Amino acid sequence: MRKPIIAGNWKMYKTLKDGQELAVALRRELYKIENVDIVVCPPYTLLVTLADALEASNIAVGGQDLYWQDEGAFTGEVSPLMLKDAGCRYVIIGHSERRQFFGETNETVNNKIKASLKHGLTPIICVGENRQERESSNTFKVIESHIKGGLADISAEDILKTVIAYEPVWAIGTGLTATPEQAQEVHKFTRDLLKKMYQEEISSQIRIQYGGSVKPENITELMSKPDVDGALVGGASLKADTFTQIVVKASEVIK
Ligand code: 13P
Repeated sequence: MRKPIIAGNWKMYKTLKDGQELAVALRRELYKIENVDIVVCPPYTLLVTLADALEASNIAVGGQDLYWQDEGAFTGEVSPLMLKDAGCRYVIIGHSERRQFFGETNETVNNKIKASLKHGLTPIICVGENRQERESSNTFKVIESHIKGGLADISAEDILKTVIAYEPVWAIGTGLTATPEQAQEVHKFTRDLLKKMYQEEISSQIRIQYGGSVKPENITELMSKPDVDGALVGGASLKADTFTQIVVKASEVIK
């Protein structure tokens, strides 16, 4: 059985005080949850404070991106070493907003995955098609390119240390959620692809999250699908109430 994983991507939201309050509330509300891995990914400026606020709790902290060098003259960038040092256990890689606005490519995603694994960070690797790609029936082609390009030269041993997040771009921040059937279809396609690249024994262990307008109202149905192993939550992770409900509902889904 794959343990579900629910991660909150806070994107570029929250000042220190607000972020700290949210973390404290989540810790208080979610301390009993044992059957779901819980992660929050705040902006860089909040990482150390949150790692402190969530120390020895069941909520892990992750970064939203990294650069693949350990250190150097790379103004504005943050290294895997620095994320580890700040208390991170996870890092989001290849989010569609990075691909769309900041020139992220499959090649940079691949470099970043390798760097995170080298430093013991669990990469949450984002893949997903945009609206035009879906409408022109290219969804599977895009997923295949993101998976094959992003995971080039990643060993079977290392792939087991990653999490994949399927985030259809047209469902992000739009209120348009993929139907559970649409999510399942792409998750199954992704798992089958991983089976071809690795082996069934490996692919059956890899967790695939769904992301895109996940809310307390739709998490149960999404999570009920056989290949949906959790969620990467944007907007609804910014409030203690909605993120708590999502985690609690995910913990109640029995497959
Ligand atoms: P929303 O949940 O706000 O649609 O964002 C999804 C997302 O991009 C998570 O990484």
